[in-house]
Amino acid sequence: MTALGKLDSANLNGGQKLAVKYFTVAIALFGAQILFGLLAGLQYLYPDFLFGILDFSVNRMVHINAMVVWLLFGFLGSVYWLLEDESGVPVVGLGLGNLAFWIFTLAVVVVVVVYLLVQTGVGEQSSIWLINEGREYIEAPRWADIGIVVCVLVFFYNAAATFAKGRYTGIGGVLVLDLIALAGIYLAGMYYTPNISMDQHWWWWVIHLWVEATWEVLVGCLMAYGLIKTLGVRRKIVETWLYIEVALMFGSGILGLGHHYFWIGTPEYWFTIGGFFSALEPIPLVAMVVHAVFDAGHHKLKSSNNPALAWIIAQAFGNFFGAGVWGFMHTLPQINLYTHGTQWTASHGHFAFFGAYVTMVIAYFYLAIQKWRGGVYMSGNLIGAWKWKWALALLHIGMLMMTMAMLISGYEQSQIERAIEGSSWVGYFTAQAHPWFVQGMQWRQIGGWIFAAGFVLLAWDLLTIGKRETRPAQITTAAE
Ligand code: HEM
Ligand code: HEM
Ligand SMILES: [Fe+2]
Repeated sequence: MTALGKLDSANLNGGQKLAVKYFTVAIALFGAQILFGLLAGLQYLYPDFLFGILDFSVNRMVHINAMVVWLLFGFLGSVYWLLEDESGVPVVGLGLGNLAFWIFTLAVVVVVVVYLLVQTGVGEQSSIWLINEGREYIEAPRWADIGIVVCVLVFFYNAAATFAKGRYTGIGGVLVLDLIALAGIYLAGMYYTPNISMDQHWWWWVIHLWVEATWEVLVGCLMAYGLIKTLGVRRKIVETWLYIEVALMFGSGILGLGHHYFWIGTPEYWFTIGGFFSALEPIPLVAMVVHAVFDAGHHKLKSSNNPALAWIIAQAFGNFFGAGVWGFMHTLPQINLYTHGTQWTASHGHFAFFGAYVTMVIAYFYLAIQKWRGGVYMSGNLIGAWKWKWALALLHIGMLMMTMAMLISGYEQSQIERAIEGSSWVGYFTAQAHPWFVQGMQWRQIGGWIFAAGFVLLAWDLLTIGKRETRPAQITTAAE
């Protein structure tokens, strides 16, 4: 046994050793996401900035692709993190899982380097295969797509075979079924057709059904396990909640897909279906808030890992407001007619991805670092606790500032460009030059710098938290 507080991989099981590799790459890519977001934001303020060297289109693409990839790395890591503990047996096929990690990481690096080196060019079949598929959020070229599918299949095999061999739990069962859907849907984003309506139709399957169905279910599983670990909540309670949340999420999220089919040339019945089902989507998110807050209150917030619990609670609220409330605001077709594709959308996009997903992955970073340091104390009066608290605060202040700034700009666009000027060319430029828009973009940038400062503090905290502690983790036991 090594001393408490010392970073030692002997403290981790096989799956967890792989998990921390995924987490390390995830944090690096999170940093890259922020960097490219700041560059793209600066180009809103100074349109000439880096023009011809690193265009807005490229910065934006790297920004959002890095986000998707780092969150995926975070999720894969989180599943490997809980796999052995939850199933009671070592990960089946771990060697293959490790190999897939390296291939995946290498592929991501090559894809990004190509994005940066080949910023413009003709669009032909070879560009789809080698450079860029041109589908927002999942622009990776075809060769990388295939590589990603192979890696995800290996990951799925690890998870499914391990649960099949070991203990069956509700969390494990839901997770495996969800991963089938998550991996299967990705294939829809690889289908090429020159018909733009059809292309968008399938592309939304990936984007919407990931973030509003399969990813939500995955974070539901992560929350369930996280609450058991930090608070010692009884399994029976979290699993019952998990089933309710999953049923509601799939019930509303699958047909909620229709809110992306309003204006892309798909049949008109989507107005009704999309409007109705997506308006129901906030309901499961309310269930998640009630669940997390109730559990935390019931256990008097006495957790074995305060930063992780704080981020889990932040997830419950962030998911509800960012996805539920901010999504609901523009989901009815009567409203979306005016808000579609404005900064209003970007406001929701930022708040939802941060609130629902970034928060949960950070909670798992904190679970991981605690065990990596030998199960060190991370409850109240933790040495150096100001760092995790300030990182949490700065990331939230920065994100909320960006969200509100974009909402104001988006409101102005909806009003002037759409409602008053009737979506005309002149209307577009009038809206872009209006002080509400311009100042919104300035405040977004200020929020971005605060967010970036929060990230630096978070990274520093993850490197140092628990280092000087000699107390063992506070035990949380299942209470009634
Ligand atoms: C965690 C869950 C969610 C995430 C991460 C998320 C993220 C996003 C993002 C990034 C976009 C912009 C897509 C683009 O580039 O065009 C978007 C669009 C949209 N989202 Fe969400 N969303 C979530 C949940 C929801 C929910 C629950 C609702 C409804 C209640 C909703 C309603 C919408 C609508 C209507 C649009 C289209 C906006 C437009 O017309 O421009 N979203 N979402
Ligand atoms: C330093 C902080 C950040 C800055 C300055 C920033 C800036 C930007 C900018 C300028 C865009 C392009 C918007 C446009 O095309 O009009 C963008 C898009 C986007 N960013 Fe960020 N970003 C930051 C952090 C984040 C974070 C933490 C997330 C989520 C985890 C995120 C998610 C997104 C998404 C989903 C889009 C696409 C939105 C849409 O098309 O509706 N960003 N960001
Ligand atoms: Fe959606």
